[in-house]
Amino acid sequence: MIYQNISNMKYRILLASLVLLTACAEKSQNDLIEQKVDDMLSQMTLEEKVGQLHQISAWGDAASMHDEVAAGRIGSILNFVDPVEINKLQRVAVEESRLGIPLLIARDVIHGYNTILPIPLGQAASFDPELVEQGARMAAVEASADGIRWTFAPMIDISRDARWGRIAESCGEDPYLASVMGVAMVRGFQGDSLNDPTAIAACAKHYAGYGAAEGGRDYNAANIPERQLRNVYLPPFEAVAKAGAQTFMSSFNEIDGVPSTANPFLLNDVLRGEWGFDGFVVTDWNSAGELMAHGVCVDKPDLVEKSINSGVDMDMMTYGFIEELPQLVEEGKVKQSVLDEAVRRVLRVKYHLGLFDNPYVDESLSDKVSLTPENLALARKAAVESVILLKNEGDVLPLGANVKSVAVVGPMAHMKYDQLGTWAFDGVSDRTVTPLEAIREIPGITVNYEPAFESTRDKSTAGIPAAISAARRSDVVIAIVGEEAILSGEAHSLADISLKGAQNELIRQLSATGKPLVMIVMAGRPLTIGEQIEQSDAVLYSFHPGTMGGAAIADLLWGVEAPSGRTPVTFPKMVGQIPIYYNHANTGRPFQGNETLIDDIPLRAGQTSLGCTSFYLDAGVEPLYPFGYGLTYTTFEYGEPRLSANELGVDDTLIVEADITNTGSREATEVAQLYVRDLVGSISRPVRELKAFKRVNIKPGETVTVEFSLPISELAFYGFDYTRKVEPGEFNLWVCHDSNSGTPVSFTVK
Ligand code: GLC
Repeated sequence: MIYQNISNMKYRILLASLVLLTACAEKSQNDLIEQKVDDMLSQMTLEEKVGQLHQISAWGDAASMHDEVAAGRIGSILNFVDPVEINKLQRVAVEESRLGIPLLIARDVIHGYNTILPIPLGQAASFDPELVEQGARMAAVEASADGIRWTFAPMIDISRDARWGRIAESCGEDPYLASVMGVAMVRGFQGDSLNDPTAIAACAKHYAGYGAAEGGRDYNAANIPERQLRNVYLPPFEAVAKAGAQTFMSSFNEIDGVPSTANPFLLNDVLRGEWGFDGFVVTDWNSAGELMAHGVCVDKPDLVEKSINSGVDMDMMTYGFIEELPQLVEEGKVKQSVLDEAVRRVLRVKYHLGLFDNPYVDESLSDKVSLTPENLALARKAAVESVILLKNEGDVLPLGANVKSVAVVGPMAHMKYDQLGTWAFDGVSDRTVTPLEAIREIPGITVNYEPAFESTRDKSTAGIPAAISAARRSDVVIAIVGEEAILSGEAHSLADISLKGAQNELIRQLSATGKPLVMIVMAGRPLTIGEQIEQSDAVLYSFHPGTMGGAAIADLLWGVEAPSGRTPVTFPKMVGQIPIYYNHANTGRPFQGNETLIDDIPLRAGQTSLGCTSFYLDAGVEPLYPFGYGLTYTTFEYGEPRLSANELGVDDTLIVEADITNTGSREATEVAQLYVRDLVGSISRPVRELKAFKRVNIKPGETVTVEFSLPISELAFYGFDYTRKVEPGEFNLWVCHDSNSGTPVSFTVK
């Protein structure tokens, strides 16, 4: 026993020494880089400093940008993806410019690069951060092989409004889920070491509050009071800043009249002052120039002065810094120290990326690392996990051996380009595997294919009869509908989020044939498809599932895989319910469930007879599907959560256990979710907040115990006095299937 203690002691000492050595090595590496940054800065002219803060979108080949780069007037280039041309231009920067500072090449690598993953909203639906990290790592390897070392991702704007086209790029409505997914993407993009040639610097965007655009209309004003900003919209940004994201991007929108690109509270006080961020901030595309349209600046010198003095470091595509900064510094309107600090931050990232030591890319690499079988397999797994089973009446799915023929109909059944979704610039759409192609590969199945429409916006019903006829001669109908890629993403907001064109008529007529109808939706957002869901027997929601989406859908239809996706956003019944989200305030008059809805209102009903609570006469208050919802090919039952204590202090950790039983006949994965509710606070608190989740695979009949560790400090929030702390009191806690299920237990924080 003594020997055992000694060896334990030795092990602990060895471990502690390793940790200490690693920390010392990192510190000395950082100190070395700081030294190099200072040395470089001390040699730079005013023009060279300003050049580092100027980012342009490539306007041609290397030769066309030669002179500007040789003169040190460009620090970063985006939308430049040819490794041969990148090397040529990098050689100009490194070997011809006076100080040889390498360029930082950037691209929107949002959900994959050549191999396209599901859109981020779909990846969030997987509730699988490990898989999301692997996907970002794959994207980084593919992109860096083309010479790209900086991506404008993760996009972690909290999105509660499906009218907003950019909800597609987001990780959904929940601060915890967005934080976990954002950190996973940062880790994947940046890898274990930034100076590894496959590392690409991450960029947390769009900082901040962009997803709260009024009316869900892109670029619109956001009105977010500070407590809500800090409790809802900032947590994912704080999480990725502390996870080491190298850059941030200031957003287009204003918050309460202050555009983010000229908001020192966001960029200096919070980002640097509170979170200690030491990377750099790039503006969104010309968002500095747009300060004039916002009406907060009178001219270019004014907008440059305001943005850099607010904490912006690099100017994307305004050409303001390059044109106006030298004069502003000479006039003293921008202090030399402000300019130097901005340049220091940019140089620091370039040194950390190893660009000074290793500026060039191996031009033969891309073909070896892109669209490999491993990458395609990863994309297929990501697509499988991103699909949500919303309905499965009579266990129509998975399709069995009795199905000999299927009608594959609808405009998204075979759309190689649109299946990739928004922000898939470098996807190779020829490599997309569509549902039609994958289903045709299944042995023994006759496929009757009819697209019915030219596009998802096609209003002509001329193609519907052929689809109906295909349905009549098939055992099962698989209708693949939704949105083309262009209908979501930047500047693509919708006032009506129902299916476009004549898709609803197609579903109605297919349903009328009486054949089993499986509806599959490919879209960049939740759609108001309640009626179409009623008309269908089973519904799979796949968002835009990426390169391997078709293969993944076939795997799910035939039960090779069981669905495990969960809604990362609330699905509204109708657009008028928006904004609608699970972690809402209780209000003083919460919905009771016994309210009289419009079809049940008696004639001459008394003014107050319908219930004076917070609901819609014509829509109630419940969504079509709540956050965290999803079915699979079995059922699960939850036991009551067991707590390690019922009374805890703010420095304690609560251990929570819950038993989950697979009460069905198929193995499948459950996403167990842990929610809390702070019953009484110095401000009103949400009716539920997600604090943890875990994917757990359970065999039929098996009971598994899931365990969560919840530090009480995670219950902190910004309260009445705008400070973040845990407030004593009673809490409810659920371990359950989604944000609308489960029975709570309670505990007290003293
Ligand atoms: C766009 C987007 C931003 C993107 C940038 C560069 O306008 O708002 O998300 O990273 O410009 O393409």
